[in-house]
Formats: sequence, structure tokens, C-alpha cells
Amino acid sequence: MSWDEGCADHYAGWSAHMTADIAFYTALAREADGPLVELAIGSGRVAIPVARETGKRVTGIDTSPSMLEQARRNAAEAGVELDLRTEDMRNLALDQRAALIYCPFRALLHLPTWADRRRTFERVAASLLPGGRFAWNALAFDHRIAARLDGVRQPEPLPHTIRYAVGDNRIDIVRETGAKSSLWWATKNEWLGLLDVSGLELEALYGGFGFEPFTGDSQEYVFVARRP
Ligand SMILES: C[S@@+](CC[C@H](N)C(=O)[O-])C[C@H]1O[C@@H](n2cnc3c(N)ncnc32)[C@H](O)[C@@H]1O
Repeated sequence: MSWDEGCADHYAGWSAHMTADIAFYTALAREADGPLVELAIGSGRVAIPVARETGKRVTGIDTSPSMLEQARRNAAEAGVELDLRTEDMRNLALDQRAALIYCPFRALLHLPTWADRRRTFERVAASLLPGGRFAWNALAFDHRIAARLDGVRQPEPLPHTIRYAVGDNRIDIVRETGAKSSLWWATKNEWLGLLDVSGLELEALYGGFGFEPFTGDSQEYVFVARRP
């Protein structure tokens, strides 16, 4: 179910448009008094600037060997040390509890079921220091965007088609090579339910990475939760 290795090769191109989140997660990392952990670290796109700006080491976990290899290479080029682990976020287990666990770029949407997410939230709650924070972002499903994009070939950054399986709340990004990456969207109440069952508290829900308030028109959920 995880990120298809077939989509990893051009990750820099796929993620080039996403830069606004770096300052957001870096600001949270600056405020954290203790270990920093990124779930689904990918290429280190966020973790490398976080480590560089804060001077703190980031532990990054990911299931994809090729994404972790990119993170290793990018960190070495940037002169930054990351603690990289091949691990599934549903089984998160840390040696030391963290002050901040974060999961950028909608990576929690790669988990297909609510049970997968509940398990992840429970592992996060158990892995945080008291007062520690969990931050993540996820798209707010917009049927107008879905209707416009469904089945239409997109040439950039690599030729692909996006397909919506509405009954399964799933978005498939299908490359012409046949490689596929799937995302399962969730509603605000599902996210709040995950906090509820895992014993985390909502600190803030923003509508973007500039800490702007979430409104009915926001297209992104940017959550900050806290372990009491
Ligand atoms: C969209 S990328 C995000 C990478 C990075 N966090 C960023 O912001 O650029 C999604 C990442 O999630 C990872 N992933 C998917 N399922 C996972 C799981 N169950 N546990 C850990 N990592 C997972 C993939 O391997 C991939 O590197």
C-alpha cells in the first residue's frame, strides 16, 4: 500500500511545487524542547532544512528504501546528519520520547484505512513527551477539483492521470509507466476522531502554512495536536 517505488525516481520533480510547508514545520521544530521525528521522511525535503535551521538532529522513518536512499544522499550533500530508519509509521517505536512528531505533504493519506491511522495516532501519542506536539497536513477533498481532474492526462512534472474512486475516498495518481500512488482522503471529523481515540488534544487547526485560520473555504488541513 505504501508509496510505490515506481513514483520515487522523480520525487524532486513531484514535490518541487511544495515549499510553503518548510517554514511552518521549522517554526514548530524551533519551539520543541527535545527530539524531533518526521514520519514518512521521503527525500528529506523538509527534514534537511529543519535540521539545518534548528541545529537539531531529526529522526526520519519511511517504508521506502529508495526514498530513504534519496534522504541519505541529500543530507550528505547538505552536510546535515539525519537519523534514518526503515520503519512503518503504524509501528512507530522510539528509543526516546519526542517533543515534536510531524508528518508533512499529506503522507498520512497513504494509509488506506481508519484503523491504520488510529494505530499510527496511538503510536504517536505513546511516543511523545508530555506536552509534545504532533503536526501534519492533509488535503480537504474538493469535489470541484476532483470533477475537473478526474481522468484527465497531466503532462507535468511527468505524464500521469489522476483518478478518483469516490466510494473508496481514494485518489490514484497513475503514471504512464503503470506505477501508481494512492491517497485516501479524510474529513475534518475523521481527523478529530483520531485525536479523540488516541488521547491527543487539538491545539490548532490552520487553513494553510502561514498559520491562517481554517475556514469553510480552506483547501488544506494543517493540524497541530498535543499530548496532555
Ligand atoms: C509524499 S511523500 C512525503 C515525503 C516527505 N515527508 C515530504 O514532505 O516530502 C510520502 C512518503 O510516505 C512514505 N510512506 C508511505 N506509507 C508509509 C508508511 N506506512 N510508513 C512510513 N512511510 C510511509 C513513502 O515511502 C513516501 O516517502
